[in-house]
Amino acid sequence: MDYTPYFSKNALRMKRSEIRELLKLVNQPDMISLAGGLPAPDVFPVDELKDITDEVLEQEGRKALQYGPTEGDPRLKEELVKLMAKEGISTTPDNILIITASQQGLDLLGKIFIDRKDTVVTESPTYVGAIQAFNAYSAHMETVECDEDGMVPEALDEKLRFLFEKGIKPKFVYLIPDFQNPSGVTLPKERREEILEIAEKYRMIIVEDTPYRQLRFEGKSEPPLKAMDKNGRVISLFTFSKILLPGFRLGWIVAPEKVIEKLVMAKQSADLCTSPFVQAITYRFLKKGSMNKQISLIVDQYRKKRDHMLNMLKRHMPKLKGLKWTKPKGGLFLWVTLPEYMNSRELFVRAVEKKVAFVVGPAFHPHEKCENSLRLNFSYSSFDQIEEGIKRLAESIRHYETEIKRKESTVITP
Ligand SMILES: Cc1ncc(COP(=O)(O)O)c(C=O)c1O
Repeated sequence: MDYTPYFSKNALRMKRSEIRELLKLVNQPDMISLAGGLPAPDVFPVDELKDITDEVLEQEGRKALQYGPTEGDPRLKEELVKLMAKEGISTTPDNILIITASQQGLDLLGKIFIDRKDTVVTESPTYVGAIQAFNAYSAHMETVECDEDGMVPEALDEKLRFLFEKGIKPKFVYLIPDFQNPSGVTLPKERREEILEIAEKYRMIIVEDTPYRQLRFEGKSEPPLKAMDKNGRVISLFTFSKILLPGFRLGWIVAPEKVIEKLVMAKQSADLCTSPFVQAITYRFLKKGSMNKQISLIVDQYRKKRDHMLNMLKRHMPKLKGLKWTKPKGGLFLWVTLPEYMNSRELFVRAVEKKVAFVVGPAFHPHEKCENSLRLNFSYSSFDQIEEGIKRLAESIRHYETEIKRKESTVITP
């Protein structure tokens, strides 16, 4: 049976995530994967969660195993209001929707805002899962240049002016302001202010996605855009995936009530509610005050791994003009820029032969640009794997460089 004629146009347009495809390589023997965005499993608080789970089952098992309200467990929302206050975000439970982690948030935002061919503005590069989520609603994506301080406000202004002159009003600007995925860079406060002013000027909605913001290794936190938002232009996505564990599939959105109302309706048709059991466990984890300790543990470990990866890059990478990498102050990733004449997909083939994997730059661009870039993850691999993985990557780059040089020298000039 050929199902192709039956699939919707949207389904036919969907592409498999390059990252998910690459993650399959993790299972190959001896492969060192610096590709995926997985947290380190050894910091998951398994014992504590086991005790809390027993408590939930004993004390409220029949309720926690039942369906729950679409909006989320009110007790968890109260805890999140307190957590948000620590981030400078003054909010209420009515402005919070519990979601099945932030990937669902991206999907629901697509569902309530995007009609076919609507424009969404993103950073370049941007999170591959956001590209997939917005593509599923047939969005047209426009990108804005970023540098080592994230989105360039002048470039955003220029892009919006250009689009408005063509009669195009984008639905929202999507940003990952802290320790961005994939680049690892963070938007400074001044740029956040400028971006909010630009949003005001063009009456734009800003969607900020913040999975990594609490994972800061050094320096002072920048305020979330939501904390600086005077006119309700910002919708913020948060998740427990990177500060606790991803397997719970738990996150939350902070947004104006009118937006929450629509999101609730959109969520009802998606999954009715996020697991009440998981919400009850997480509520108790927060209530006990265990979150800070957990975040410190993660930050301590990831800082060491980031330092180790940076040291290994410095030690092993060849000295080539244009070869550089970001030095993130938090999060899980760093972004390598290769010399312009190199292509990360071609390097990938050579790297896999040497048993090291990364994610190629074009995966993070809605139109598959960023050809000479790649993303490295430092949270998941062990210290030894990071060292060996970077050695293998450096060898692959040397090997690729030699091939390019050899090809150039065999071109016969008339
Ligand atoms: C920027 C960004 N947004 C959203 C997600 C999705 O995370 P989750 O659905 O686990 O919250 C990720 C995952 O890596 C991410 O990097």
